[in-house]
Amino acid sequence: MPIASPLPPTQVRVDASAPAVPIDRRIYGHFLEELGRMISGGLFPEKGSSAPLTGTGYRKDVWEACRDLDPVLLRWPGGCFADVYRWKDGVGKDRPKSYRNRFWGRLGKRFGPPVHNELGTDEFLGLCRDWNCEPYFCANAGTAGPEEAAAWVEYLSGKAREGLPACKLWSIGNEQFAIWEHGHTSSRKYAARYLEFREAMKAADPGIETVANGADTYQLKWNEGLLEKAADEIDYLAVHIYLPQDYKPWQIILPARGTVPEWYSLLSLDQTVLWKLDTVDAQVRRVAGRSIPLAVDEWNIHWNFPQIVRPRAVLRDALGCALHLMCFQQRAGLVKIANLSSLVNLLCPPLLTDLDRCSRTPLFHVFRLFTGHARETSVPARVAGPSYSSKKLRGIRAAKDVPFLAASATLSKDRTKAALFLLNRHHEEPLEVEIDYAGASPAGDARLHTLTGPSITAENLPGRPEEVSPASRDIPAGKSRGLTLPPRSLSVLVQGLGG
Ligand code: AHR
Repeated sequence: MPIASPLPPTQVRVDASAPAVPIDRRIYGHFLEELGRMISGGLFPEKGSSAPLTGTGYRKDVWEACRDLDPVLLRWPGGCFADVYRWKDGVGKDRPKSYRNRFWGRLGKRFGPPVHNELGTDEFLGLCRDWNCEPYFCANAGTAGPEEAAAWVEYLSGKAREGLPACKLWSIGNEQFAIWEHGHTSSRKYAARYLEFREAMKAADPGIETVANGADTYQLKWNEGLLEKAADEIDYLAVHIYLPQDYKPWQIILPARGTVPEWYSLLSLDQTVLWKLDTVDAQVRRVAGRSIPLAVDEWNIHWNFPQIVRPRAVLRDALGCALHLMCFQQRAGLVKIANLSSLVNLLCPPLLTDLDRCSRTPLFHVFRLFTGHARETSVPARVAGPSYSSKKLRGIRAAKDVPFLAASATLSKDRTKAALFLLNRHHEEPLEVEIDYAGASPAGDARLHTLTGPSITAENLPGRPEEVSPASRDIPAGKSRGLTLPPRSLSVLVQGLGG
């Protein structure tokens, strides 16, 4: 629990002369799938909406917000939906106008919400072109065979020749380790299927890279059989991280309580995320004899399953997401891909819509701070200062000595510019921070961008004034070593560096 105020200052030591690890910008990626109100009601208007549309029928407010978000890498069509998706249903003049979501097919053909089929392959590629992001496809390895996936790869090569974005990244199925997934099987059988798909898909386009469905610490055993059989042919191993979810039956419907102890447990999740990444990496090194880059191609703050239809993005959860992004920067040598799940109206999203209005949630602003300011490499930042201990919160481990300040340091390739991500986890006290660059000194003016809000559950709802928005200020030369960071905030200090 928090210690008494006033808090003593926190020292941050950025090792500006340490080996700099390149950060793959694809860690700032996003995800679109046929689930909840993401496609109909998010990207496209639902019945009764009078929201203005683009010339191609998308909701203009949502389309523009997605473009402004700078999604970098966009995964589609799922998720679980990918393993029931027949891509040929989404191309050509005669495609069906709507059909039942086949994910629910085990309950019978008439079950499941309708898929309005507005978003097919060509439309998705058009979005990637217009939003300036890289497409990342997930092939159906649950209910379709390798020939179908190879034909999709070939179709996409044709689209690239016509000038649409080329797709070089393919996941082979989704979460095949999970009992809820269509096609779920043993890891060895999935490994065999993965190899078959990869061979067929690479015959259609040898330039593609493939992602295998790995599991995180909940089902670590799954990875063993997969790696033993297929490690040499895996370009990236997928890991999904949904915290604080722990998939216990009695917890899947429990909402957040909004208490202060819960806040401190959630905001210590970086220790759990780093533990998960390092545990999977250690396993991979042991079984495969080498490290395999990770694709955290689904992650988010996931309290409960009702969030699929009742998404919420409060400041607390947006800062929890910021901690994930800081972890991905800190493990830049390992995590090459990450996709928030998901872009609009699901779990804790960057965008929320009602019938006619769209809001840019606190998480939208978090992402903009990262994509707008993070530099290309990561170096260590050591933090010493006041700290707290927190209790286990579902899948988030109990933590000791968690500094109120979380820090992640990024440098330009030539080491002349720094962007430091500084997160004050204290729910009500400002933090005094003293920054020191080992091997460099601050040069010239700096700029500090800060995101905070009036309470831990502040949010930006459609049609209401924003409670959480970023503010920026210049810091004159020589004054950037000592900063005061407001409570419950994420800041980015953008700073020139000299020798
Ligand atoms: O994004 C929500 C769902 O959660 C995805 O479809 C699935 O992959 C995961 O279990």
